[in-house]
Amino acid sequence: MSKLNVLFAASECHPFAKTGGLADVVGALPKFLKKLGHDARVVMPRYYGVDRTNLKKLPEPLGVPMGIIGEMWCGVYEGRLPNSDVPIYFIDYELFFGRESLYNDANGAGFMDNDNRFVLLSRAAMQLCKALDFHPHILHAHDWHTSAANLFLTTIYANDDHFRDCASVLTIHNMQHQGAFYGGLMNVLDVGWEHFNFREIEMDDKVNLLKAGITHATMINAVSPTYAEEILTSKFGCGLEATMQTRVNDLWGILNGVDTDEWNPKTDRFIAPNYDETTLDKKLAVKRALQKEMGLPRREAPLIAIVSRLVKQKGIDAIAEAIHDLLALDIQMVLLGDGEAWAHFYFGDIARFYPKKFACKIGFDGALSHRIEAGADLFLMPSRFEPCGLNQMYSQLYATLPIVHGVGGLQDSVENYDEQTGEGTGFKFYELNAKNLINTVGWAVHTWYNRQDHFRAMQKRAMRLNYGWDESAKTYEALYFEALKRADKETP
Ligand code: ADP
Ligand code: GLC
Repeated sequence: MSKLNVLFAASECHPFAKTGGLADVVGALPKFLKKLGHDARVVMPRYYGVDRTNLKKLPEPLGVPMGIIGEMWCGVYEGRLPNSDVPIYFIDYELFFGRESLYNDANGAGFMDNDNRFVLLSRAAMQLCKALDFHPHILHAHDWHTSAANLFLTTIYANDDHFRDCASVLTIHNMQHQGAFYGGLMNVLDVGWEHFNFREIEMDDKVNLLKAGITHATMINAVSPTYAEEILTSKFGCGLEATMQTRVNDLWGILNGVDTDEWNPKTDRFIAPNYDETTLDKKLAVKRALQKEMGLPRREAPLIAIVSRLVKQKGIDAIAEAIHDLLALDIQMVLLGDGEAWAHFYFGDIARFYPKKFACKIGFDGALSHRIEAGADLFLMPSRFEPCGLNQMYSQLYATLPIVHGVGGLQDSVENYDEQTGEGTGFKFYELNAKNLINTVGWAVHTWYNRQDHFRAMQKRAMRLNYGWDESAKTYEALYFEALKRADKETP
């Protein structure tokens, strides 16, 4: 099979900068494309937190035309994704990216200049290809932050010989965040005001960057098959369902994978002892250590975990409503998360009220998230919508059975428990409300106490699931070739 040059343009990438699953995907998929023989590379901002020690600064600054703002000159640093030789380039523009936080100010509000910041990133991705003399076959944008790149390819760079062989893909990780900004952003995009119309970029009189990506990408994919169907409906389309429907023939759903270099209970450097399916009994020691670390009594009761952004998407409000009923059960809970301020206070209070049953840590802590995935018995993820979700997959590989709302990727990656046969890998409910949440947790807890044979068999089945990236990377490869075909480009 021929070799493709693929440029990933994204706002975050593990381990350099991460607020959620997008970073995990961008940090993993290019490595697996590389294994398939492709030249995959990544470009992202050089945020304040990106350590430059092992990065190489490219000798020439990068000129990035920003329409009415003029040309912006950026530094470029080059590094590698860990455990790979995938190049990653960091766009250095101190005024825009030299901040602790990626998207929001200390009060949780989006930065006022997020429009210019991410248009700069998107345009820099295009300019970088030229500066590196890298001829991409696929420009792969992710979410609204880089979807302007899909637009640039079919407008400003449409007749640019450098991109003669290039088609573009937009991966939708989350339809809720669309990058909607005042119309004047057209002057910065500089693609011509004739594109500011309802079929292309305009939505509610604003520039909608995600919409621009959806209408201009050659191919689009959502991060699970079910989410690809859901975003065509008004319930999940967040107002862009009609736009999505115009592209239904170019829309695929590809389930994310798990980077097993990072998430594998047998080799995980954050847990002790390590375990696998044949040594599952050792998981108990990890649980005891977690109880100790979180200040919970080290006793035998089902330990239910939550690791999440504390936002409405994740069904946090339903957990808040259900919490007293949940804690009436003989269980323990641990929560690690950050997000909306009310949730920080609320769950902090719950922890003080139920010191023997509920422990929480507000903040972002990668190492602790591994210890929680490994140490818990059950993992609660009642998301209102979930494009893919990675934690339920990590949980299953760590023999921590998920309790989920059957939407999006949760529907595609968790098999519901069947009490008759003992089959399944988790516990599902299909309408999100506190009552269903309480009942389903109750069902899981009952199974833990009274159907231990079934519980154990489900844990082993979950650990055997194949959520590696190999398969999904092959599907992305097929998507790329399809994009080249549809854009009428020659396959290399
Ligand atoms: P989303 O991207 O919508 O937040 P995912 O399940 O796809 O949801 O990915 C979330 C990722 O972020 C996982 O790797 C999860 O472990 C991590 N994560 C979420 N919250 C925290 C936190 N407070 N501390 C550490 N890791 C977190
Ligand atoms: C988004 C989604 C999440 C998905 C992740 C990676 O953050 O909310 O469901 O797993 O992107 O694709």
